[in-house]
Amino acid sequence: MPLKERVLAVLEENKGKSVSGSEIARSVGMTRSAVWKAVKSLREEGYSICAVTNRGYCLSEESDFLSEQSIVPNLRTKDLGRKIDVFKTVDSTNNFAKSLAQLGAVHGTTVISETQTHGKGRMGRSFYAPLGMGIYMSIVLRPELSVEHSLLITSCAAVAVAEAIENVSGLECKIKWVNDIYAGNKKLCGILTEASVNVEQGGLEYAIVGIGVNVQNVSFPKAIADTATSIKMETNVPVSRSVLAAEILNCLEERLGTVKEKSFMDEYRRRSNVIGRRIEVIHNDVSEIMDCTGIDEIGRLLVRTASGEEKALMSGTVRLAE
Ligand code: BTN
Repeated sequence: MPLKERVLAVLEENKGKSVSGSEIARSVGMTRSAVWKAVKSLREEGYSICAVTNRGYCLSEESDFLSEQSIVPNLRTKDLGRKIDVFKTVDSTNNFAKSLAQLGAVHGTTVISETQTHGKGRMGRSFYAPLGMGIYMSIVLRPELSVEHSLLITSCAAVAVAEAIENVSGLECKIKWVNDIYAGNKKLCGILTEASVNVEQGGLEYAIVGIGVNVQNVSFPKAIADTATSIKMETNVPVSRSVLAAEILNCLEERLGTVKEKSFMDEYRRRSNVIGRRIEVIHNDVSEIMDCTGIDEIGRLLVRTASGEEKALMSGTVRLAE
């Protein structure tokens, strides 16, 4: 690890506490003047590090930059996030993760960025990703799953993200089919899963699970202001994006282990904000009002149309009608 990153790791480990220059120098195996240079360079990157005479350096408790050093110590995973690339900016973490997957990136490889210039949403939409406000993260998965089971990865990820947000902030999270996380009646997070299938062997080659969570936002552009929210806007609990990113990886790894037995589906249904509600379903630009009666074991939305016909939907966009 380069010297600057080693200094950052010590400061992150002692966030909010002072560590003397000589202590840092000893633990990273460099001189005090090299420590000072590393601190100067970290400050130039925007880190808030104060220097107190006779006490040393202290990384501000409020520091919320994403880095390998701030995320990895919070992981309890075996694979997810153990190989991680952290960017200031990237076009789309899903695109970057996909190119890594095509080059053979291992299961659990994670890409996270402070912002995205072309963040992608479902159905060809864009995803709003302002600098330093959210978690924009994509994970390369290579689970041994049939194509049928791999369709459940997105629902499984929705459960994991909802759990992680609740664990870190206490905010109650619901899931709007298929994969939006809601707080009250506003969207907090979107998930976009892109998969590559091995045609010859008939199984999943890899899946990219892309997760975008609004964390520190205090406002949104007009077009989404009525429908989007953030953890900060919903709760007064200060949330570290690094701690939340790690918790998402922790919960995702645990839940992914249950995809085959589908035990997460009960939790998915418990968190659903559409079951038992009147909904508007938009499919191929056609909108229809229906009643949602449930979600089945393969993640299909069970609905009853206005004419009384029972259907199981595989895809579409759902809006809460009342
Ligand atoms: C949606 O709400 O329609 C899905 C949004 C998914 C956004 C995330 S942000 C990280 C990853 N990279 C992307 O380009 N998209 C996903």
